Amino acid sequence: MELNNQCIYLIGFMGSGKTTVGLQLSEELGYSFKDLDQEIVKNTGITIPAIFENVGEAGFRKIEKKMLKELNEPHCVIATGGGVVENEGVLSWMNENGTSIYLKAPFEVMYKRIQDDRNRPLSNQGREALSLRFENRKSMYTQAEVIIDTDGKSVDEVVVEIFKLL
Ligand code: S3P
Repeated sequence: MELNNQCIYLIGFMGSGKTTVGLQLSEELGYSFKDLDQEIVKNTGITIPAIFENVGEAGFRKIEKKMLKELNEPHCVIATGGGVVENEGVLSWMNENGTSIYLKAPFEVMYKRIQDDRNRPLSNQGREALSLRFENRKSMYTQAEVIIDTDGKSVDEVVVEIFKLL
């Protein structure tokens, strides 16, 4: 995998570990770290659940796509939101402007982590709806340049796996 001083984009479902892994990866690489959701909150001054309430999921996606493009800079690791791949053209944009890495994890593991998280407006939709959402996104996530199977691995081990590919 060729970094070319570009951004590393971590993608994957809610609860796949994008933020935790991203932070550690950025420290070890000496890259800057940005969490897309946190940047949206900072920039708009509105929480993620409030954005969903005010402008709905479609409105959130527009804000998310715009913010993603603004964050692009050399030497950065970006933890994206789980639904970023639902924005048309975003995956190919990430692959042109950096390297996308999919953190693959079993649904049950992610579900336990996100279940009824008040900061994640989609997480209270129930197990079935979330599972369906994950199934529908799989074909998008797997278009990432790199796929890392995180099943049974610690954060350290996931970061080591990524380093092996750099
Ligand atoms: C979403 C994932 C969230 C956040 C928003 C929508 C999704 O990010 O962007 O609640 O559609 O999967 P995380 O993946 O960091 O939880």
